[in-house]
Amino acid sequence: MSASSPVPQFSKDEIEDWLRVAHAAAQLAYSPYSNVRVGAALVGADGQVYSGCNVENASYGLTICAERSAITRAIVSGERRFRAIAIATDRPHALFPCGACRQVLAEFAPDLPVFTQGRASEIARSTLAELLPKAFLPKDLR
Ligand code: THU
Repeated sequence: MSASSPVPQFSKDEIEDWLRVAHAAAQLAYSPYSNVRVGAALVGADGQVYSGCNVENASYGLTICAERSAITRAIVSGERRFRAIAIATDRPHALFPCGACRQVLAEFAPDLPVFTQGRASEIARSTLAELLPKAFLPKDLR
């Protein structure tokens, strides 16, 4: 992250609250093929939290990840600015968003702080700028 856009500081409590929402959303995952449950809690600029879970399909390639499910929900609720995303999974280790989700999140929040946790893991953190360097963004079409 560049000096001009410092990583915002969040309290441990709020990060844990967002992760709790993400873990609850993971319980709602529809993932009979992979048996991997993922939940996301995308936090809007004013603190509203939009949850999402992975939704798989018998036509495997149509699977929607938790992160894209959450951002779709946020956008249709009128939210366009985001503070952070928390991601949780029932896998033992924390996972970071897949490439497709990084690109979709970057459309709206290229510097988004990312907090992620596995079933019993420590909280891992990053930012989208770190996860998707030199991203192709709306500005590239102007
Ligand atoms: N998955 C997510 O929901 N988010 C990610 O960032 C990585 C993968 C889901 C998709 C699929 O249902 C399952 O995890 C296994 O790939």
